[in-house]
Amino acid sequence: MIQRPIKIAPSILAADFANFGAECRAIEAQGADWVHIDVMDGHFVPNLTFGPAMCAALRPHIKGVMDVHLMIAPVDPYLEAYAKAGADNITVHVEAGPHIHRTLQAIHSLGKTPGIAINPGTPVEAMAELLDMVGLVCVMTVNPGFGGQSFITSQLEKIVRLREMIGDRPVLIEIDGGVSTKTAPLVGRAGADVLVAGAAVFNGGSADNPAAYGENIRMIRAAAEAGRG
Ligand code: DX5
Ligand code: ZN
Repeated sequence: MIQRPIKIAPSILAADFANFGAECRAIEAQGADWVHIDVMDGHFVPNLTFGPAMCAALRPHIKGVMDVHLMIAPVDPYLEAYAKAGADNITVHVEAGPHIHRTLQAIHSLGKTPGIAINPGTPVEAMAELLDMVGLVCVMTVNPGFGGQSFITSQLEKIVRLREMIGDRPVLIEIDGGVSTKTAPLVGRAGADVLVAGAAVFNGGSADNPAAYGENIRMIRAAAEAGRG
């Protein structure tokens, strides 16, 4: 099994909505590997968040990877806009439409890294034919739509199975939802590479007082690494 360094991707869904630019700069300065942006449409998921203009406005405030998680359906009409907004990774849900293969081809042709996400009710087999087309797979450990929900433990087995299915392919496993210092060891042990965390990163700090962000990121990373053994 290839073991890559754990990456932490704070979700700005838990940031101060009046201060996103400074929040992105703060989490990167405090050790975030990627910045995770949760795009919701009020249709595929019961919440509304960030359009492409928002992502474009944030781009200059993010030095590293802008990890865009599209929880929208249909998704194809918006891929180009998020690519132009400066996304590095564009992750789409297998449940978002009947032509996920075409969607991944489109993301690839826009020069971006394609990702696929699955909801807690979707089996990993739904991704079996797509693993050669993606740079990351995202296992949702909450039902998408909101930050701060409880981790769904039954999803851990899916991470283990995915690790086997991926084999030697250069595909990262991202875990999204309910990640904390308590759950990070479990996902680390199961085989996760990238941990998205909203509430657990932004808890206790602010852009003006970001030391808590750094401490939270370090603790989550250490917990995941400890889980790997
Ligand atoms: C859920 C989102 C997640 C979520 C993570 O729909 O995709 O990225 O906001 O937030 P926490 O870590 O608070 O569960
Ligand atoms: Zn997400």
